[in-house]
Amino acid sequence: MRHTLAHFAALHRSGEKIVMLTCYDASFAALCDAAGVEILLVGDSLGMVVQGHDSTLPVTLEDMEYHVRMVARGSQKALIVADLPFASYQLSPQQAYSNAARLMVAGAQLVKLEGGRAMADTVRFLVERGIPVCGHVGLVPQSVHQLGGYRVQGKTEDSAHALLEDARVLQQAGAAMLVLEAIPAALAKQVTGALAIPTIGIGAGKDCSGQVLVLYDLLGIYPGRKARFVRNFMSGTSSVSDAIRQYVAAVKSGAFPAPEHAF
Ligand code: KIV
Repeated sequence: MRHTLAHFAALHRSGEKIVMLTCYDASFAALCDAAGVEILLVGDSLGMVVQGHDSTLPVTLEDMEYHVRMVARGSQKALIVADLPFASYQLSPQQAYSNAARLMVAGAQLVKLEGGRAMADTVRFLVERGIPVCGHVGLVPQSVHQLGGYRVQGKTEDSAHALLEDARVLQQAGAAMLVLEAIPAALAKQVTGALAIPTIGIGAGKDCSGQVLVLYDLLGIYPGRKARFVRNFMSGTSSVSDAIRQYVAAVKSGAFPAPEHAF
């Protein structure tokens, strides 16, 4: 039996940290499941770390279905969240529904979509029709060209205020959880305190309800310089399973992220 949204709502209420990790295939899904990762995110980051693109934009719905099927086959306990890829949901709530439904049929229990208040009607449309939604605000990689690069968001008073409002609107629309990516830790703390739903941070400091990392980053597989918010859990161990177990333990204990991983 897989973890349910009610389970994560209860963890959130009790203050226990939630552990999410990206995953793209069956073998890693089995390892992550056994190591105690509670949510597997089939992220469109697969476009960069698996397919070798320089952004997530070329990832197709068919790519996502293919990877969701593999992750679903490899895991038994973790909740599976699947990214709606670029241009598969922005046109209309109806477009979002028919594509989200395909990811649910492939094996996801939740879909994730990027964007703030502009996505509220779409979130409501999906939730009212039985598709749970995880929002994603802050650094939204599908908008990299509009943002002018992979930059920390919410640094000015106005943008921080807008992000907090976006988070509130997404919750109001029915989002079940919210990813906060690359925002100041103080803002993530404020957003988490203002919401009843769990927040999952990546580059958002320790005060989110849970954390997510890209699996390849955790394993030290990144080209060039390590991003500030990443910790290479392979250093000091020679086993992938052990590295994932250490990530789970570090998130649960609050040891990760440390201040040096935050903005
Ligand atoms: O696609 C992805 O891996 C993500 C995470 C960075 C949150 O959306």
